[in-house]
Amino acid sequence: MSAQTSAEASAQPLLEVSEAVVSYRVKGKGRFVAVRGVDLVVRPGEIVGIVGESGCGKSSLARALVGINGLAGGSIRFLGENVTPLPIRRRPGKLVPLQMVFQDPYASLNPRRRIVRQLEEVWNAAARARGADRSAEARTRAVADVLERVGLDPVLKDRYPHALSGGQRQRIAIAKALLAEPRVIVADEPISALDASSQKHVGELLRRLVDELQIGMVIISHDLAVVATIADRTAVMRAGKFVEQGETEQIWTAPRDPYTLQLLSAVPDLVGREG
Ligand SMILES: Nc1ncnc2c1ncn2[C@@H]1O[C@H](COP(=O)(O)OP(=O)(O)OP(=O)(O)O)[C@@H](O)[C@H]1O
Ligand SMILES: [Mg+2]
Repeated sequence: MSAQTSAEASAQPLLEVSEAVVSYRVKGKGRFVAVRGVDLVVRPGEIVGIVGESGCGKSSLARALVGINGLAGGSIRFLGENVTPLPIRRRPGKLVPLQMVFQDPYASLNPRRRIVRQLEEVWNAAARARGADRSAEARTRAVADVLERVGLDPVLKDRYPHALSGGQRQRIAIAKALLAEPRVIVADEPISALDASSQKHVGELLRRLVDELQIGMVIISHDLAVVATIADRTAVMRAGKFVEQGETEQIWTAPRDPYTLQLLSAVPDLVGREG
């Protein structure tokens, strides 16, 4: 869909993370450092997977990437500009194309409003930030288009969140992110809560969106199989650091770090998977 060639794509990172440190103040114990100096680059058309066990700092990093968590050190640049944490209402318009999809889609949906209203609201805010046409017609078209893009029956838009399946809700969460016309989506465990068949479909959807829209995506998961199937590159995180980062294929077939090997050996059905 995009006219961008792979040569151009490789020349222009969308997101550049350098030596990022995230720490929390813990009562009576000083500071706990959850992310200890992480480097990461995300380019158009690319999915970067981050894997690692529970508590290793994945969500802390994800929140820092989109400017929800502040940094205690290092830098995060989105389209060449520093990502500085600000309350959602004061978030500058230029950060609108940097979107997050949360693990629990319920958390980002209002239970008392119909899906269509919530989608329209996001579209309005994004169109305002872009200074784009905000007519009712344009809005209706944008909502219809995004539902088609994420593979949802348009009748579902008139429902409330509780009347959707987990997979449908996750598609709505993805639709919300897409309405902001993102350049980068950071998805924290976007499919872990789904059953096996929805996992496969939502995983394929994310891959297709990245390819078609040439956006960049960071997918965080404790499920190695998910990342192995859809990520171009994978970073393995342990205790706040990346112990290894590279092409997914290389990480899976020839891991360099003993910890990666240990993670992989816990997923026997990945061994010998087709390439
Ligand atoms: N607000 C906070 N205050 C203090 N410590 C925190 C805070 N949020 C997270 N932590 C700690 O930081 C570490 C990393 O947490 P984080 O949520 O980033 O892990 P995670 O890799 O996303 O884990 P999971 O796979 O279980 O979601 C954990 O030890 C956690 O207890
Ligand atoms: Mg987490």
